[in-house]
Amino acid sequence: MDQFKVTGDRYFCENVDLTKLAKIEGTPAYVYSKSMLRAHCENLLAAFKSYPTQACFAVKALSNLSVLREIFACGLGADLVSGGELERALMAGAPSDKIVFSGVGKQVHEIKRALEANIMMFNIESPYELDMIAQLAESSGKTAAISIRVNPNIDAQTNAKITTGLYSTKFGLAEGDLPELFEAIRRRPSLKLIGLGCHIGSQMLDLNPLRDAARQMAKLCHSVRQLGFDLKHLNMGGGLGIRYRNEDPPSVSDYAAALIKEVKPTGLSLIIEPGRSLVGNIGVLLTRVINVKKTPDRHFVVVDAAMNDLVRPTLYESYHSIENVADNLTTGVPSLCDIVGPICESGDYLGKDRMIPLPSPGDLLMVRGCGAYAASMASQYNSRPRAPELLVSGTNYQVARKRESLQSLWAEELANLD
Ligand code: LLP
Repeated sequence: MDQFKVTGDRYFCENVDLTKLAKIEGTPAYVYSKSMLRAHCENLLAAFKSYPTQACFAVKALSNLSVLREIFACGLGADLVSGGELERALMAGAPSDKIVFSGVGKQVHEIKRALEANIMMFNIESPYELDMIAQLAESSGKTAAISIRVNPNIDAQTNAKITTGLYSTKFGLAEGDLPELFEAIRRRPSLKLIGLGCHIGSQMLDLNPLRDAARQMAKLCHSVRQLGFDLKHLNMGGGLGIRYRNEDPPSVSDYAAALIKEVKPTGLSLIIEPGRSLVGNIGVLLTRVINVKKTPDRHFVVVDAAMNDLVRPTLYESYHSIENVADNLTTGVPSLCDIVGPICESGDYLGKDRMIPLPSPGDLLMVRGCGAYAASMASQYNSRPRAPELLVSGTNYQVARKRESLQSLWAEELANLD
């Protein structure tokens, strides 16, 4: 259930009044609903209950420790792509036997640390990496459990920048390249191949590509087992889409049913790596209108959040719905507006071509769909401190990340300033 709602003329997240929250904590600020987070985790687990499944949250989507702690407490594991994410996951209580490490560029120090932490498995994306992991495992007297990330060359029918299952992308290995890899694995006693996996893209709104990928992967698992490898898992990645505007994403239960149907005949346990579908809609970005400027073309509503706080519109032309939280909701005249930040680039916008009641300076706006890939992709461009993350639960909230101080922006530069 959506916990960002209007009651009377006030906007709430759960039972916290957003106008009051913004007054106390300032803007811009990310606000997350804990009860939505829990509900999403529980729904997901319930949908997969009929089949042995391990859900590993894609930490890149939202990597705040307090949020991660909630997610791991629900029984999810972690899907990581860096040593930094590994440390976050461990700090937030992810059991190491539920951690999978993906990514095309794992580095020596990251692999060493993951071996030391005894993670569940590495998702291998290249022969070079296979060799690196084998050597590092060998020299530390360990066996590394691995899974091969396969590139099934299937179009996920989503934005090109978040499509990952085509040969034109850098991810995974083509089926034709696997025999050589199998030979290498056989020569390396420090490696144990326990699974195959794929992740074909993000924000998928159609289950068919995922179904095709699962069918292809199930078939491949069968042949790999015939080669004598004792596979345990099939990892189908993440990618389930959410509604930002008027999309009609598949339900979690249809998603689960589609995957389970294809994977069941293999008898392998299923791993999934959901990110956006768990956290995308649990968060908003609160921002205040600084000024409103009229040009011959349109109105520019200049707000105090910018592309450094939410880069998705700039990077992917993504749509995020924007609502006015101010008390005088209906007074503005409908006008063509771009909602833009103060950053010195024309690409700095949160919303373009919106026909909305013209906001006034001082109004509080709420940008939806900012749970996933908003705070985790934030930067300090234009020397803007990163915004706080507020985790609401009922009538209370916790400052899950303080607003960054100006001093912290240059703290690491001071030492060498002559
Ligand atoms: N597993 C792997 C190996 C991934 O690369 C990803 C996302 C996921 C799981 C989680 O996918 P999800 O369930 O969140 O779709 N910054 C982009 C999204 C990048 C996704 C990268 N990989 C955005 O803001 O749309």
